[in-house]
Amino acid sequence: MKGEPERRQAVIAVPLVPSLLDQLAEYDLTVVPAGRSEDAVFQTALTEAEGLLVSSNVAVDQQVMAWAPRLRVISTMSVGVDHIDLDAARERGILVTITPVLSDAVADLVIALMTMLARRIPEAMRAVTSGRWHDVPLGADLAGKVLLIVGFGRIGQAVATRAVAARMRVQYVDARSDLPTIDGVDRVGGLAEGLRGADFVSLHVDLNAATRNLMGHKEFTLMKATAFLVNTSRGGVVDQSALVRALTEGKIAGAGLDVLQVEPPLPDDPLLRAPNAIIVPHIGSATTETRSAMAQCAVDNLLMGLRNEGRPFLVT
Ligand code: DGY
Repeated sequence: MKGEPERRQAVIAVPLVPSLLDQLAEYDLTVVPAGRSEDAVFQTALTEAEGLLVSSNVAVDQQVMAWAPRLRVISTMSVGVDHIDLDAARERGILVTITPVLSDAVADLVIALMTMLARRIPEAMRAVTSGRWHDVPLGADLAGKVLLIVGFGRIGQAVATRAVAARMRVQYVDARSDLPTIDGVDRVGGLAEGLRGADFVSLHVDLNAATRNLMGHKEFTLMKATAFLVNTSRGGVVDQSALVRALTEGKIAGAGLDVLQVEPPLPDDPLLRAPNAIIVPHIGSATTETRSAMAQCAVDNLLMGLRNEGRPFLVT
């Protein structure tokens, strides 16, 4: 008599609500919400795992893949994949899937950061709490200003449509040729050209070897002294010492940052004391609706990948 068919295994390294775990009932699940901070537990859980669901906080490097000889699918609840060794995954034939359902949430945050910088909202709030209601500095309009979007993928495009509605003059730089056209949005020839003319620069590129420190001393020197940088992509895209210097020396007027090179930053990180840096703690996708859509998308991707059916969102 044949034995029971072996139950297949998957590891879930993000907190998921019970209804999502139920959707994965055909697998034996090990839930390791602490991820890499409990490597021994993580390693044991991965021994038989065919699927792994992570967030961008969980590094999936060669070591993790070596712990999981049967791994076939890594489903990350993020669009960024810089925490995953993609070459190692490709070599092993492991599918890597993403959750590109956060563009609106991130684009909303970009507009919020631009508005906070332009309208000097942190200073205005401090004026209220320090009893200086009538003593607030004038800000600047968004309308009529040039926004340079660096990277015209899904999120860059969502930022563009909002900025066009705010009557900004929107430009983008991106090496890809197969990109959609949006009324009121122009492509510029290169980063240097775009930086020279921009009042706002918003970064929307993946972090990889080509984009690490894309914004460095040379780039800040090209920007107008009145211009603002917004980064909601990855901290590593900006050379942070060069940014501190640019802010301190007044090479640019301010920065709105959702991402940093080290998250959370060390208490003595000079960026925390740099003039006119508005920093929020990687909250681009942090809305109830978007996080819940990302979790569902990550579960769907994992199932489609493991069942070899449907069209999971693969890394391209
Ligand atoms: C993403 O999806 O990459 C967001 O930055 C969250 O990590």
